[in-house]
Amino acid sequence: MSQPLPAEVQAFAQANDFPLTQELDPGYCSRIFRHGDRILKFPFQGEEQTSGFHAAYQLEQIGGPKIYAGHEQTGSLIMEFIPGGMSLTTSGQPDEPTFIHLARQVQKLSTENCLPLENYYQNLPDFGKALFATTTNPVFLHGDLHHSNILLDERTNEFRPIDPKGLVGDAAFECVAFLRNPIDTLPFREDLFEFTVGRIERLSQALTLDPARIAAWTYIDRAFDPDLEPSSPWRKVIPTFERIYHHFL
Ligand SMILES: Nc1ncnc2c1ncn2[C@@H]1O[C@H](COP(=O)(O)OP(=O)(O)O)[C@@H](O)[C@H]1O
Ligand SMILES: [Mg+2]
Repeated sequence: MSQPLPAEVQAFAQANDFPLTQELDPGYCSRIFRHGDRILKFPFQGEEQTSGFHAAYQLEQIGGPKIYAGHEQTGSLIMEFIPGGMSLTTSGQPDEPTFIHLARQVQKLSTENCLPLENYYQNLPDFGKALFATTTNPVFLHGDLHHSNILLDERTNEFRPIDPKGLVGDAAFECVAFLRNPIDTLPFREDLFEFTVGRIERLSQALTLDPARIAAWTYIDRAFDPDLEPSSPWRKVIPTFERIYHHFL
């Protein structure tokens, strides 16, 4: 992608001595540039520009990248570059202990400026709306804590979270992004049902969460996403996620 950035983002970069010459592979919602040991993130859609911007400052407290400068109007951030190039997908290390550790940490963060989960999802079926009505203790949610948003820092060998949405709501929701990944292998598993049921049981135990709520969110998240493209690999997992939802009822 080589479209010029908005003038105000260019001015923000310039004011922080950040030349926009090296662009990393595009993410789903952002453009990322690197200069030495810093990156500049320009989110171009949705909640990443607003609640995600504020949540990045929260995430700093639990190992997220250090933030050197922010431009609130565009949601742009200049942050620490995490070296190593490995994520929870590519590191080859077991993913559950790392996810569980990070999920425990994020729950403790302040929910100030977070986007309520109710506002994130519209047009849910009644059983989805019932999850909102029965959420007793809303917490900070990273909201997208999946394998590619957990980077292995080669200096410390620690996994570090990036790219929060900054939602507030049911703690069970945090498991969703993890359970629908890694996307390049998950839809092709012949044991997707048993594998995912096992994951839900272990996560619910470790995080003291209701497995039925985890399963319900995991089904809802993909099945009722109006923006999910017809060719999306996630379409393949939806029927199994629906069976899993019924399994835990
Ligand atoms: N602080 C960082 N250090 C190193 N790489 C990063 C950093 N932030 C983002 N990246 C790289 O850029 C990709 C996209 O960034 P991300 O913040 O996840 O944006 P998106 O919202 O588009 O997913 C990441 O998956 C990662 O490979
Ligand atoms: Mg990301």
